[in-house]
Amino acid sequence: MKGQLDGKVGLVTGASSGIGRATAIAFARAGAKVVVASRRSVEGEKTVCQIKEIGGEAIFVQTDVSKADEVDTLVNKTVDIYGSLDCVCNNAGLGGTYNLLVDMSEENWNYLVDINLKGTWLCLKYEISTMLKQGGGAIVNIASAASVVGLTGYAGYCATKGGIVALSRTAALEYADKGIRINVISPSGVDTEMLATLPPDVLAKFTALHPVGRIGKPEEIAETVVWLCSDASSFVIGHNLLCDGGYTAQ
Ligand SMILES: NC(=O)c1ccc[n+]([C@@H]2O[C@H](COP(=O)([O-])OP(=O)(O)OC[C@H]3O[C@@H](n4cnc5c(N)ncnc54)[C@H](OP(=O)(O)O)[C@@H]3O)[C@@H](O)[C@H]2O)c1
Repeated sequence: MKGQLDGKVGLVTGASSGIGRATAIAFARAGAKVVVASRRSVEGEKTVCQIKEIGGEAIFVQTDVSKADEVDTLVNKTVDIYGSLDCVCNNAGLGGTYNLLVDMSEENWNYLVDINLKGTWLCLKYEISTMLKQGGGAIVNIASAASVVGLTGYAGYCATKGGIVALSRTAALEYADKGIRINVISPSGVDTEMLATLPPDVLAKFTALHPVGRIGKPEEIAETVVWLCSDASSFVIGHNLLCDGGYTAQ
């Protein structure tokens, strides 16, 4: 997709691994300067190195998306260093651990909500404020197929991902006439650190539920993010795009 984001400034949260790292690299390949954000600095800097290796430009800003002051600083640094904020992928998130609903602790619930849902809201708040000043932008929030179907043992995860879709729809409505396009991508199984924690037999069963016969690659999600951030999708607003190998079509 070279050239789709030429001259743009992109920001990706949770870009120290998996889908976020692949998206940061895809942004750079498409021509954007990239701000890489996550809590782990060694892994975040590794993404920056990978972007530089392909001739791109990037910086790392250590950020915990559940902390308002850190998200505020992230957005300000982006504009201070690169001059604008044009395309964003709010991807940072956690799967949580398997627990039936009654066994889930309040602490685990709060942790998931803080990072997955509040973190996405905080990012939107500061990103949109900046985009309003410059007159536009495109934002893609990463939810999950678990935003539209249940997942036994992951009630907190499903609730936060459904919440991201609802939050994004309303945000899209509020800012559509200000030139800011907000959409969601909902992947199903993707080959990242998140799925690497599953026991092999559970992963095999989950994989078999994908009509395409395999789980996704991070790069397949990343290319969809680039498209949603590019002018090629200029009439797509408030959409939850299921990028899931047919998982939710059955
Ligand atoms: N893999 C799948 O099957 C799948 C399916 C559907 C949806 N998703 C969604 O895709 C997104 C990316 O996940 P992934 O599969 O790529 O897994 P991953 O490799 O574990 O990546 C998760 C990323 O989120 C970051 N993160 C977590 N908490 C954070 C926080 N408080 N502040 C900033 N960054 C934070 C992590 O970085 P640090 O630890 O360095 O902060 C990491 O870079 C998540 O939102 C996930 O829910 C994944």
